Amino acid sequence: METGGGYRYSMLIHAATPAPVLGGRPAASESHPTASQGPTVKPKIDVSSMNFFYGANRVLENIKLAIHPNQVTALIGPSGCGKSTFLRSLNRMNDIVPGARVEGSIRIDDQDIYASSVDVVDLRRRVGMVFQKSNPFPKSIFENVAYGLRINHMTRSREELRGRVESSLKAAALWDEVRDRLHASAMSLSGGQQQRLCIARALAVEPDILLMDEPASALDPIATQRIEELIYQLKHRYTIVIVTHNMQQAARVSDVTAFFWLGKLVESDRTEKIFTAPTEKLTEDYVTGRFG
Ligand SMILES: Nc1ncnc2c1ncn2[C@@H]1O[C@H](COP(=O)(O)OP(=O)(O)O)[C@@H](O)[C@H]1O
Ligand SMILES: [Mg+2]
Repeated sequence: METGGGYRYSMLIHAATPAPVLGGRPAASESHPTASQGPTVKPKIDVSSMNFFYGANRVLENIKLAIHPNQVTALIGPSGCGKSTFLRSLNRMNDIVPGARVEGSIRIDDQDIYASSVDVVDLRRRVGMVFQKSNPFPKSIFENVAYGLRINHMTRSREELRGRVESSLKAAALWDEVRDRLHASAMSLSGGQQQRLCIARALAVEPDILLMDEPASALDPIATQRIEELIYQLKHRYTIVIVTHNMQQAARVSDVTAFFWLGKLVESDRTEKIFTAPTEKLTEDYVTGRFG
Protein backbone atom coordinates (compact mmCIF):
# COMPACT_ATOMS: atom_id res chain seq x y z
CA MET A 1 0.00 0.00 0.00
CA GLU A 2 2.59 2.47 1.13
CA THR A 3 4.73 1.66 -1.85
CA GLY A 4 1.87 2.43 -4.16
CA GLY A 5 1.61 -1.15 -5.33
CA GLY A 6 -2.01 -1.83 -4.45
CA TYR A 7 -2.72 -4.11 -1.52
CA ARG A 8 -0.26 -4.59 1.24
CA TYR A 9 -0.84 -8.30 1.32
CA SER A 10 -1.56 -9.09 -2.29
CA MET A 11 0.74 -12.11 -2.12
CA LEU A 12 -1.83 -13.98 -0.09
CA ILE A 13 -4.96 -12.29 -1.26
CA HIS A 14 -5.02 -13.49 -4.81
CA ALA A 15 -8.66 -12.57 -5.27
CA ALA A 16 -7.83 -8.89 -4.90
CA THR A 17 -9.07 -6.47 -7.50
CA PRO A 18 -6.84 -3.43 -7.87
CA ALA A 19 -8.04 -0.44 -5.91
CA PRO A 20 -6.80 3.12 -5.72
CA VAL A 21 -4.03 3.80 -3.27
CA LEU A 22 -5.23 5.64 -0.20
CA GLY A 23 -3.90 9.13 0.27
CA GLY A 24 -1.82 10.29 3.18
CA ARG A 25 -0.82 7.00 4.70
CA PRO A 26 2.27 7.00 6.86
CA ALA A 27 5.23 4.72 6.36
CA ALA A 28 4.73 1.04 7.03
CA SER A 29 6.61 1.17 10.31
CA GLU A 30 4.13 3.67 11.69
CA SER A 31 1.03 1.84 10.61
CA HIS A 32 1.39 -1.07 13.02
CA PRO A 33 1.83 0.40 16.45
CA THR A 34 0.87 -2.90 18.07
CA ALA A 35 4.37 -4.23 18.16
CA SER A 36 5.93 -0.99 19.36
CA GLN A 37 3.23 -0.37 21.95
CA GLY A 38 4.27 -3.56 23.62
CA PRO A 39 2.45 -5.50 26.29
CA THR A 40 2.39 -2.62 28.78
CA VAL A 41 -0.35 -0.70 26.96
CA LYS A 42 -3.66 -1.43 28.64
CA PRO A 43 -6.41 -2.66 26.37
CA LYS A 44 -9.28 -0.28 25.79
CA ILE A 45 -11.68 -3.19 25.53
CA ASP A 46 -10.96 -6.48 27.22
CA VAL A 47 -13.19 -9.45 26.47
CA SER A 48 -12.67 -12.78 28.17
CA SER A 49 -14.52 -16.07 28.56
CA MET A 50 -17.38 -14.57 26.63
CA ASN A 51 -20.33 -16.67 25.48
CA PHE A 52 -23.34 -15.26 23.71
CA PHE A 53 -26.76 -16.88 23.39
CA TYR A 54 -29.88 -16.12 21.40
CA GLY A 55 -32.30 -18.17 23.50
CA ALA A 56 -30.79 -21.63 23.73
CA ASN A 57 -28.56 -21.07 20.71
CA ARG A 58 -24.96 -20.30 21.60
CA VAL A 59 -23.52 -18.19 18.78
CA LEU A 60 -20.26 -17.05 20.41
CA GLU A 61 -18.11 -19.41 22.38
CA ASN A 62 -15.38 -18.62 24.88
CA ILE A 63 -14.18 -15.45 23.17
CA LYS A 64 -11.03 -13.80 24.43
CA LEU A 65 -9.89 -10.61 22.75
CA ALA A 66 -8.07 -7.48 23.88
CA ILE A 67 -8.68 -4.40 21.74
CA HIS A 68 -6.11 -1.65 21.98
CA PRO A 69 -6.62 2.11 21.89
CA ASN A 70 -5.97 4.17 18.77
CA GLN A 71 -5.95 1.17 16.55
CA VAL A 72 -8.30 -0.28 14.02
CA THR A 73 -9.34 -3.83 14.81
CA ALA A 74 -11.06 -5.67 11.97
CA LEU A 75 -13.42 -8.59 12.56
CA ILE A 76 -13.53 -10.98 9.63
CA GLY A 77 -15.10 -14.36 8.98
CA PRO A 78 -17.87 -15.99 6.97
CA SER A 79 -21.47 -14.82 7.19
CA GLY A 80 -23.20 -15.98 10.35
CA CYS A 81 -20.01 -16.56 12.35
CA GLY A 82 -21.00 -13.96 14.96
CA LYS A 83 -19.13 -10.79 13.97
CA SER A 84 -22.12 -8.46 14.29
CA THR A 85 -23.24 -10.10 17.51
CA PHE A 86 -19.78 -9.60 18.97
CA LEU A 87 -19.66 -5.98 17.85
CA ARG A 88 -23.11 -5.20 19.24
CA SER A 89 -22.23 -6.75 22.57
CA LEU A 90 -19.57 -4.05 23.01
CA ASN A 91 -22.16 -1.32 23.51
CA ARG A 92 -24.99 -3.56 24.68
CA MET A 93 -27.03 -3.11 21.53
CA ASN A 94 -28.03 -6.77 21.89
CA ASP A 95 -29.86 -5.92 25.11
CA ILE A 96 -32.92 -5.09 23.07
CA VAL A 97 -33.09 -8.59 21.52
CA PRO A 98 -35.51 -10.77 23.53
CA GLY A 99 -33.81 -13.89 24.87
CA ALA A 100 -30.30 -12.61 24.14
CA ARG A 101 -27.81 -13.27 26.92
CA VAL A 102 -24.12 -12.70 27.43
CA GLU A 103 -21.79 -14.58 29.77
CA GLY A 104 -18.23 -13.83 30.73
CA SER A 105 -16.55 -10.48 30.97
CA ILE A 106 -16.48 -7.42 28.73
CA ARG A 107 -14.53 -4.55 30.23
CA ILE A 108 -14.03 -1.09 28.78
CA ASP A 109 -11.46 1.04 30.56
CA ASP A 110 -11.49 -1.57 33.30
CA GLN A 111 -15.22 -1.25 33.88
CA ASP A 112 -17.50 -4.27 33.46
CA ILE A 113 -20.03 -2.88 30.98
CA TYR A 114 -22.63 -5.48 31.98
CA ALA A 115 -22.51 -4.50 35.65
CA SER A 116 -25.86 -3.37 37.02
CA SER A 117 -24.43 0.06 37.87
CA VAL A 118 -23.70 0.85 34.22
CA ASP A 119 -25.74 3.60 32.58
CA VAL A 120 -26.47 2.04 29.19
CA VAL A 121 -27.35 5.37 27.57
CA ASP A 122 -23.98 6.78 28.60
CA LEU A 123 -22.23 3.58 27.47
CA ARG A 124 -23.74 3.98 23.99
CA ARG A 125 -22.63 7.59 23.90
CA ARG A 126 -19.07 6.54 24.71
CA VAL A 127 -19.20 3.58 22.32
CA GLY A 128 -20.69 4.92 19.09
CA MET A 129 -21.97 2.74 16.29
CA VAL A 130 -22.25 3.04 12.53
CA PHE A 131 -24.26 0.50 10.57
CA GLN A 132 -24.06 -1.04 7.12
CA LYS A 133 -27.04 0.88 5.90
CA SER A 134 -26.69 4.56 6.64
CA ASN A 135 -29.63 5.67 8.73
CA PRO A 136 -29.81 9.46 8.90
CA PHE A 137 -32.86 10.95 10.54
CA PRO A 138 -35.32 12.57 8.11
CA LYS A 139 -34.13 15.97 9.28
CA SER A 140 -31.62 18.52 8.09
CA ILE A 141 -27.91 17.80 7.91
CA PHE A 142 -27.36 20.17 10.82
CA GLU A 143 -30.07 18.61 12.98
CA ASN A 144 -28.74 15.10 12.42
CA VAL A 145 -25.44 16.07 14.01
CA ALA A 146 -26.99 18.37 16.62
CA TYR A 147 -29.47 15.74 17.80
CA GLY A 148 -27.23 13.85 20.22
CA LEU A 149 -25.75 17.08 21.55
CA ARG A 150 -29.23 18.37 22.32
CA ILE A 151 -30.62 15.27 24.01
CA ASN A 152 -27.46 14.86 26.09
CA HIS A 153 -27.47 18.59 26.99
CA MET A 154 -23.89 18.81 25.82
CA THR A 155 -23.83 22.42 24.70
CA ARG A 156 -24.75 25.60 26.57
CA SER A 157 -25.36 28.00 23.70
CA ARG A 158 -26.44 28.16 20.08
CA GLU A 159 -22.88 29.18 19.19
CA GLU A 160 -21.37 26.22 20.94
CA LEU A 161 -23.85 23.89 19.25
CA ARG A 162 -22.95 25.30 15.85
CA GLY A 163 -19.25 24.93 16.62
CA ARG A 164 -19.67 21.31 17.66
CA VAL A 165 -21.72 20.46 14.59
CA GLU A 166 -19.03 22.00 12.41
CA SER A 167 -16.15 20.21 14.12
CA SER A 168 -17.98 16.87 13.93
CA LEU A 169 -18.66 17.34 10.22
CA LYS A 170 -15.01 18.23 9.73
CA ALA A 171 -13.89 15.16 11.66
CA ALA A 172 -16.09 13.04 9.40
CA ALA A 173 -14.58 14.66 6.28
CA LEU A 174 -17.95 16.00 5.20
CA TRP A 175 -17.82 19.70 6.09
CA ASP A 176 -16.50 20.98 2.78
CA GLU A 177 -19.30 19.24 0.91
CA VAL A 178 -22.17 20.45 3.09
CA ARG A 179 -21.13 23.76 4.65
CA ASP A 180 -23.35 25.70 2.24
CA ARG A 181 -26.42 23.54 2.74
CA LEU A 182 -26.51 22.60 6.40
CA HIS A 183 -30.27 23.06 6.50
CA ALA A 184 -30.98 20.86 3.51
CA SER A 185 -32.46 17.42 4.19
CA ALA A 186 -29.98 14.68 5.04
CA MET A 187 -31.88 12.57 2.55
CA SER A 188 -30.58 14.77 -0.28
CA LEU A 189 -27.04 13.51 0.29
CA SER A 190 -25.43 10.65 -1.65
CA GLY A 191 -25.05 7.25 0.01
CA GLY A 192 -21.42 7.88 0.87
CA GLN A 193 -22.19 11.34 2.25
CA GLN A 194 -25.04 9.92 4.33
CA GLN A 195 -22.67 7.36 5.81
CA ARG A 196 -20.16 10.10 6.70
CA LEU A 197 -23.05 12.08 8.21
CA CYS A 198 -23.84 9.09 10.42
CA ILE A 199 -20.18 9.02 11.43
CA ALA A 200 -20.36 12.76 12.22
CA ARG A 201 -23.48 12.14 14.29
CA ALA A 202 -21.69 9.43 16.26
CA LEU A 203 -18.60 11.61 16.77
CA ALA A 204 -20.60 14.66 17.93
CA VAL A 205 -21.30 13.18 21.36
CA GLU A 206 -17.60 12.55 21.96
CA PRO A 207 -17.29 8.79 22.06
CA ASP A 208 -13.91 7.21 22.45
CA ILE A 209 -14.79 3.99 20.69
CA LEU A 210 -16.40 3.68 17.28
CA LEU A 211 -17.99 0.40 16.17
CA MET A 212 -18.62 -0.01 12.47
CA ASP A 213 -20.59 -2.89 10.99
CA GLU A 214 -19.71 -3.20 7.30
CA PRO A 215 -19.86 0.59 6.95
CA ALA A 216 -18.90 0.63 3.29
CA SER A 217 -20.50 -2.51 1.92
CA ALA A 218 -23.41 -0.61 0.36
CA LEU A 219 -21.15 2.03 -1.22
CA ASP A 220 -19.44 2.42 -4.57
CA PRO A 221 -15.62 2.15 -4.76
CA ILE A 222 -14.96 5.90 -4.55
CA ALA A 223 -17.25 6.38 -1.55
CA THR A 224 -15.70 3.27 0.01
CA GLN A 225 -12.24 4.71 -0.40
CA ARG A 226 -13.30 7.92 1.33
CA ILE A 227 -14.68 5.95 4.27
CA GLU A 228 -11.47 3.93 4.49
CA GLU A 229 -9.36 7.09 4.46
CA LEU A 230 -11.58 8.54 7.14
CA ILE A 231 -11.21 5.44 9.32
CA TYR A 232 -7.48 5.75 8.94
CA GLN A 233 -7.55 9.36 10.19
CA LEU A 234 -10.02 8.69 12.99
CA LYS A 235 -7.92 6.03 14.64
CA HIS A 236 -5.57 8.70 15.93
CA ARG A 237 -8.39 9.89 18.18
CA TYR A 238 -10.59 6.86 18.62
CA THR A 239 -10.48 3.14 19.12
CA ILE A 240 -12.15 1.58 16.10
CA VAL A 241 -13.64 -1.87 15.65
CA ILE A 242 -14.86 -2.65 12.15
CA VAL A 243 -16.69 -5.66 10.79
CA THR A 244 -15.97 -6.29 7.17
CA HIS A 245 -16.65 -9.19 4.85
CA ASN A 246 -14.10 -7.66 2.52
CA MET A 247 -10.64 -8.99 3.30
CA GLN A 248 -8.89 -6.43 1.15
CA GLN A 249 -10.58 -3.76 3.21
CA ALA A 250 -9.44 -5.40 6.45
CA ALA A 251 -5.91 -5.53 5.07
CA ARG A 252 -6.03 -1.87 4.04
CA VAL A 253 -7.50 -0.26 7.13
CA SER A 254 -6.74 -2.35 10.17
CA ASP A 255 -3.82 -2.81 12.53
CA VAL A 256 -5.18 -5.98 14.09
CA THR A 257 -7.43 -8.58 12.52
CA ALA A 258 -9.57 -11.09 14.39
CA PHE A 259 -10.83 -14.09 12.44
CA PHE A 260 -14.11 -15.61 13.61
CA TRP A 261 -15.43 -18.94 12.44
CA LEU A 262 -18.61 -20.69 13.60
CA GLY A 263 -18.84 -18.62 16.75
CA LYS A 264 -15.22 -19.06 17.75
CA LEU A 265 -12.35 -16.63 17.58
CA VAL A 266 -9.82 -18.68 15.65
CA GLU A 267 -6.97 -16.20 15.70
CA SER A 268 -6.24 -12.53 16.23
CA ASP A 269 -2.96 -10.85 15.48
CA ARG A 270 -1.36 -7.97 13.66
CA THR A 271 -3.15 -7.66 10.34
CA GLU A 272 0.07 -8.14 8.42
CA LYS A 273 0.64 -11.45 10.15
CA ILE A 274 -2.93 -12.66 9.64
CA PHE A 275 -2.65 -12.01 5.91
CA THR A 276 0.88 -13.23 5.33
CA ALA A 277 1.76 -15.82 7.96
CA PRO A 278 -1.24 -16.79 10.08
CA THR A 279 -0.68 -19.34 12.82
CA GLU A 280 -3.82 -21.36 12.13
CA LYS A 281 -4.40 -23.36 8.97
CA LEU A 282 -8.08 -22.37 9.10
CA THR A 283 -7.14 -18.69 8.97
CA GLU A 284 -4.87 -19.28 6.02
CA ASP A 285 -7.57 -21.18 4.17
CA TYR A 286 -10.01 -18.34 4.77
CA VAL A 287 -7.77 -15.42 3.86
CA THR A 288 -6.60 -17.15 0.72
CA GLY A 289 -10.19 -17.67 -0.34
CA ARG A 290 -10.29 -21.44 -0.03
CA PHE A 291 -13.63 -21.18 1.71
CA GLY A 292 -16.00 -18.60 3.02
N1 LIG B 1 -31.61 -11.27 16.60
C1 LIG B 1 -31.23 -12.54 16.46
N2 LIG B 1 -31.97 -13.56 16.97
C2 LIG B 1 -31.59 -14.85 16.85
N3 LIG B 1 -30.46 -15.26 16.22
C3 LIG B 1 -29.68 -14.30 15.68
C4 LIG B 1 -30.01 -12.90 15.77
N4 LIG B 1 -29.04 -12.19 15.15
C5 LIG B 1 -28.15 -13.10 14.69
N5 LIG B 1 -28.53 -14.36 15.01
C6 LIG B 1 -27.79 -15.60 14.70
O1 LIG B 1 -26.53 -15.53 15.33
C7 LIG B 1 -25.50 -16.06 14.49
C8 LIG B 1 -24.46 -14.97 14.28
O2 LIG B 1 -25.03 -13.92 13.51
P1 LIG B 1 -24.29 -12.56 13.23
O3 LIG B 1 -23.69 -12.06 14.49
O4 LIG B 1 -25.25 -11.67 12.52
O5 LIG B 1 -23.11 -13.03 12.25
P2 LIG B 1 -22.25 -12.23 11.16
O6 LIG B 1 -22.34 -10.77 11.48
O7 LIG B 1 -20.88 -12.79 11.29
O8 LIG B 1 -22.83 -12.56 9.81
C9 LIG B 1 -26.18 -16.51 13.23
O9 LIG B 1 -26.43 -17.88 13.34
C10 LIG B 1 -27.49 -15.74 13.22
O10 LIG B 1 -28.50 -16.43 12.54
MG1 LIG C 1 -23.05 -9.15 10.34
